[in-house]
Amino acid sequence: MSQTILDEPEVRFPLRLGVENRRIRSLFHTATRQQWDPATDIDWDQLHPEQYDERHLQAARMYWSRRAWGEYGAISESPALQIRFCREHCVPDMALFFSIRSQEEARHAEVCYRMAEALGGYYEEPEVTAYQGSVATHGIRKMALDPDISLEGTIAALVCAAEEIAFDVFRHLIEITPNPVARQVAKMVLRDEVRHCAFGWAFLEQRMPQLSDAERARVRDAVITMIERVELNGYHSAWLAPDSPASRIEVEVDRLTWEAGLGATTEELEKPIFLESIRTMRQRMKDAWGLDIPLFTHPKFASPF
Ligand SMILES: [Fe+2]
Ligand SMILES: [Fe+2]
Repeated sequence: MSQTILDEPEVRFPLRLGVENRRIRSLFHTATRQQWDPATDIDWDQLHPEQYDERHLQAARMYWSRRAWGEYGAISESPALQIRFCREHCVPDMALFFSIRSQEEARHAEVCYRMAEALGGYYEEPEVTAYQGSVATHGIRKMALDPDISLEGTIAALVCAAEEIAFDVFRHLIEITPNPVARQVAKMVLRDEVRHCAFGWAFLEQRMPQLSDAERARVRDAVITMIERVELNGYHSAWLAPDSPASRIEVEVDRLTWEAGLGATTEELEKPIFLESIRTMRQRMKDAWGLDIPLFTHPKFASPF
């Protein structure tokens, strides 16, 4: 049977609580000041669902439900990482920050759920169960508890790659979404996500200089795996998922939601955002950590990117 970090005896003391990563500690303090309430901080009466026909409403309900499922994934991964931070005696600032990060992901799930409800009703599962492979998990929860997988690699992949891509797409949604409520939801989520991303870079800035070449290579591998197996498999963007009846339904859901102006984007609009996101990430990993992230390929792109 495979071992997890929970099988190891817990050694809590000495318990350090002083500031050991100033940047992460300040993200924690900012987060505590920036709390918001999905019930009262969104102008729900500006949504006007009566302006939309049934077809578009149904698509938007599915779209926002899917967003809620994605955020729900973070609700389970976040505490798993929290346990890992405590077990590995990471700098205490990380555990403090992540307690708020879990709350923020819960808030994101709630706001997306409320959005789906306001549009006519939340869906509890994908229309075609086959699509769960792409949307349901990126495997972080399991990785977080696996002592053989490095924490640095996990954070680099989850935060500095995946969350950064999600951040760029959210910023793009704010620019293109006409419905004021859909835009406001995206804005509020983005306000939290900026800190989630900053956390990853702040952690690795401190850790990378302490790693051996072999450990650094594992960080690089983790990032590549996240891009190739998760992002390019359609985790955030349905049009990147392997072509199947299930993924075609999701792409159509996105298209209709975008057409209604209720959130979502299309392959055509998102492609340049995605490419830029990968380029920026590669450059930053090179500049900050000295890692060379290779070019990627995908049937939707004519050349390696
Ligand atoms: Fe989130
Ligand atoms: Fe996040």
